[in-house]
Amino acid sequence: MKEKIQQYIRDIQETTIDNIHDQAAQVEMFRVKYLGKKGIISQLFDEFKAAPSDQKRELGQILNQLKNVAQQKVEEFKNLVEQQSDTAVSADLTRPTDFSALGSRHPLSVVMNEITDIFGRIGFTVAESGEIEDDWHLFSALNFPPDHPARDMQDTFFVQKETDPRTPSGAQEIALRTHTSSVQVRVMEHSKPPIRIIAPGRVFRNEAISARAHCIFHQVEALYVDRHVTFADLKQTLLYFAKEMFGSQTKMRLRPSYFPFTEPSAEMDISCNICGGKGCNICKGTGWLEILGCGMVDPNVLESCGIDSKQYSGFALGMGVERMAMLKYQIRDLRLYFENDLRFLSQFDNII
Ligand code: DAH
Repeated sequence: MKEKIQQYIRDIQETTIDNIHDQAAQVEMFRVKYLGKKGIISQLFDEFKAAPSDQKRELGQILNQLKNVAQQKVEEFKNLVEQQSDTAVSADLTRPTDFSALGSRHPLSVVMNEITDIFGRIGFTVAESGEIEDDWHLFSALNFPPDHPARDMQDTFFVQKETDPRTPSGAQEIALRTHTSSVQVRVMEHSKPPIRIIAPGRVFRNEAISARAHCIFHQVEALYVDRHVTFADLKQTLLYFAKEMFGSQTKMRLRPSYFPFTEPSAEMDISCNICGGKGCNICKGTGWLEILGCGMVDPNVLESCGIDSKQYSGFALGMGVERMAMLKYQIRDLRLYFENDLRFLSQFDNII
């Protein structure tokens, strides 16, 4: 009997539970097998009663030891099952959890998308072309005179010189585009009127960086060419845009101006959306904010691009995206757009 009990002790010590089958059930089976009413230990106690009295002392001791070992094993298994069920719960992929923070769109993208959207609603589609541009598309086709200051190193980042018979000097200069008006030329060269495009994009100018100027910024250009396009079409389009962008109470005014590629040319102001036109430090007390340049496409430009200026007319306009975003969100320093400071960017979290 003694050997039998010792064998049971060794068996118990070697018993493990697997994690394939129900663990709680395995523990219960083990408990019933050894410690149940009709289990091994209870049967051994019955046998013990009939054992010779000189062996009882020794047998009693190892029988108690067997019982302790079995009870300890049950405890040990129970703890193990509990621990494993804890980890199983934390790995439950269906449990609700906090979402990690989402990024937000850059305010310039927000404004650029909004402008694109507003013009999209009246039939303007997006056109794009490269940021590296030649003299013809940047200046010559746009009616810039040969001595215009924009052709100067002071304003333009030149990349290289090539020869081109179409330019006044015969030299073709390659530069980072200084405005998105170059997209007008590329579109007109390759398509027939009616043309109704908007060109959002990055532009480059050789300027010292400050709160109000940067060497990289963004513009949106719009162009409409068809038969019988008039200044009234331009004005109505501008009014629609201003009200959509800055609110229905927005007023506008046009001031005469000059651009080589438009005739007549104008600059557009809107009533200050911060003071409502009363005068504040944003509008410098005038009640008006300048927002864009525009005009009727100069017939010379149409002709340079292969469009018959006797049959067709058009209007164009161009605006700075940084300035639009500054006015819309009252941003005071242009450099904030380029620093990628999360304290700045996260303020636009809930703007789509
Ligand atoms: N290209 C001009 C600039 O960069 C902006 C501009 C003015 C575009 C008048 C136009 C326009 O299309 O008609 O300052």
